[in-house]
Amino acid sequence: MLNIVILAAGLGKRMRSDLPKVLHTIAGRPMLAHVLDTAQLLGPDRIVVVVGHGAQHVQAALSAYPSVQFALQDSQLGTGHAVQQAIPQLVGGEQATDATLVLYGDVPLVQSDTLSRLLQSRAQGMAVLTETLADPAGYGRVVRNERGQVERIVEDKDATDAERGIAEVNTGILVAPTARLKEWLSRITDDNAQGEYYLTDVIGLAVHDEVMVNTAQAAASWETLGVNSRGQQAQLERIWQGELARRQLEHGVALADPARFDVRGTLECGRDVFIDVGCVFEGRVDLADGVRIGPHCVIKDARIGTGTHVEAFSHVQDAVVGEGARIGPYARLRPGADIGNEAHVGNFVEIKKSRLGQGSKANHLAYIGDAQVGARVNIGAGTITCNYDGVNKFQTVIEDDAFIGSDTQLVAPVTVGRGATLGAGTTLTKDAPAEQLTISRVAQKTIAGWRRPGKKP
Ligand code: UD1
Ligand code: CA
Repeated sequence: MLNIVILAAGLGKRMRSDLPKVLHTIAGRPMLAHVLDTAQLLGPDRIVVVVGHGAQHVQAALSAYPSVQFALQDSQLGTGHAVQQAIPQLVGGEQATDATLVLYGDVPLVQSDTLSRLLQSRAQGMAVLTETLADPAGYGRVVRNERGQVERIVEDKDATDAERGIAEVNTGILVAPTARLKEWLSRITDDNAQGEYYLTDVIGLAVHDEVMVNTAQAAASWETLGVNSRGQQAQLERIWQGELARRQLEHGVALADPARFDVRGTLECGRDVFIDVGCVFEGRVDLADGVRIGPHCVIKDARIGTGTHVEAFSHVQDAVVGEGARIGPYARLRPGADIGNEAHVGNFVEIKKSRLGQGSKANHLAYIGDAQVGARVNIGAGTITCNYDGVNKFQTVIEDDAFIGSDTQLVAPVTVGRGATLGAGTTLTKDAPAEQLTISRVAQKTIAGWRRPGKKP
């Protein structure tokens, strides 16, 4: 049986924030959620998150993980003390295969492949994820004997000068046999430079009890970076976005600049997708084959069909776009926009909770809300669906092949019949019949002999 204990009780003072540190985000997700997602990939029997500072906040933020358990660490007396708080909730321990893996809520990018290797390297004993650093200052050092076997871990503040020269450091992540770990934790003391209960002291106890301590290293050095400050958070964000960009490139997506690419969710791309600089993808976004996304678009929870181009500075949220469509530049598709194949949505056009049928066009300056627009409809510049009376929303229906002249207000509920034409400037308050011209404009007149007031010379 496998337990995973995630330490998340720390305050994170250097973030200078009211939000508990582990709820600060990388790629739009709390750091702790990244760790939980990775933990779940290992198929553990139990996950226990040790919470302290902002415990209620942290627990509330993890409602999407109903199987995760919490242990409260009232005061932060050290990493060993933190793991102790989780002990009553751990499962198994009777079997040699039963193990407990310790992760950190503020080390968000560790990958499941690395952790699987760490679990493998444990054999029947312990394993510590270590790293060799050019500048190991501040970290716990891995002290080995003359045969190269791990003897103990010494914290920076407790180390001798010679020990401070050791470049191999403890990342904090380790795995131990569950029953032994419980016992070792009951034996550690706070008799050290920081007056804390060090989790790292269990390594010395394991060696004393002749339990083998192995080590493993992460596949990429960024996996074990922790976040203590906004600067480190920003650094990890770029590292992670670089990794997501690398995966898209490997998958065959063309990115104009992998350093100017941000995914805060899941981006699925077909073949020959091109993404220009400065785009942000949030939630779940699907781009079908041949889609091109112009520079500086924000696309959230959307599906874009084959061959569609989204031009520069467009904003798309909770929308579906068909095949071969043209969106933007400067278009806004709001929740419930459903754009048909080969439709065009141009600059400063906002579409909300509306269907725009196949081949229909709204090329400039329009608001289409709560509308059903058929196929091959032309919507002129300045057209507005007046869908809201201050209390209720009403539907506008525009049937196939209608032509809506510029600067038209469609006062919903109202229907424009198939093939109807609305003259420019019409305020439509009653249904417009099919195939006919409807116009509500005041007849044009010219006032003879009228003079503009002139200034006296
Ligand atoms: C710890 C390790 C050190 C390692 C380093 C890697 C110990 C004693 N030292 O040191 O060997 O090189 O991590 O970054 O383990 N936490 C709690 N409750 C506590 C104390 C800490 O939940 O009482 C959490 C913190 O929120 C943090 C993590 O444990 O997420 C690590 O704590 P921190 O104080 O940063 O440990 P370090 O001194 O950096
Ligand atoms: Ca730390």
